[in-house]
Amino acid sequence: MHIFNKKQALTQFLKQVKQKQKTIGFVPTMGALHKGHLSLIKKAKAKNNIVVVSIFVNPTQFDNVEDLNQYPKTLVKDLDLLKSVACDVVFTPSVSEIYNTNISAKKFNFDGLEHQMEGKFRDGHFNGVGTIVKALFEIVKPNKAYFGEKDFQQLQIIKKMVKKNNLPVKIKGCAIFREPDGLAMSSRNTRLTEAYRNAAPFIYKTLKKAKKKFGTENATKITAWVTKKFKKHPLLELEYFTIAEEKTLETAITKEKNKKYRAFIAVFAGKIRLIDNIRLK
Ligand code: PAF
Repeated sequence: MHIFNKKQALTQFLKQVKQKQKTIGFVPTMGALHKGHLSLIKKAKAKNNIVVVSIFVNPTQFDNVEDLNQYPKTLVKDLDLLKSVACDVVFTPSVSEIYNTNISAKKFNFDGLEHQMEGKFRDGHFNGVGTIVKALFEIVKPNKAYFGEKDFQQLQIIKKMVKKNNLPVKIKGCAIFREPDGLAMSSRNTRLTEAYRNAAPFIYKTLKKAKKKFGTENATKITAWVTKKFKKHPLLELEYFTIAEEKTLETAITKEKNKKYRAFIAVFAGKIRLIDNIRLK
């Protein structure tokens, strides 16, 4: 496994890979890797000659300094995990290697996708995501890049960015990987206390019930039901629940036959913010 922390050394290496007509699959991460990340890497390995994983905790996508400082950093363990799935190349740049001295995000227009859900609660988050993902694409020049559907809004925004900028990369969305009790895998789960960890599967249980209700009840009614359920919960605090159309991410008022919908949720388990979603139709 080749490990690089400088852009120039990585691009030189990847240039040779490209010259041999080999394809590059790319999995961008912020480290603290778990089985969900490994499943993306396995998918990338199956469809490309070389897999590049980046580990970079991107400061410009955090709207909260405490969250950035507390973000788990487990590089030694991450590298062991990456070796175990035969990852080919790891890129672990420093903040100055990526941003030089100007640690700020560029402004993007994602045709309104950025104003829904996470965009309402995490100021500037998607400008930060767009900035880093575009920068990494320019460095790695992958044929395909893999993102988990847990961050479904992020996935749609990256697809939009690729389309609007004609970037030569195919974006692949991969199904959410869950713990046996249903909790969506996330690097943030390791920061949950035992009580919050035990409570957290309630999120997916509620999503599954909402999915069942979607067959017979309208989105407004289901949203009210979920809100009430969380109001009664002793530990978990609902930030938002919304049923939205997959393409526009706009809240669904009525159901239309040829459209696909998902239920999206963000919940505070103490100070830890967890998100999840489920396909409805
Ligand atoms: O999903 C993540 O881990 C991050 O948002 C990403 C895509 C690696 C960009 O920093």
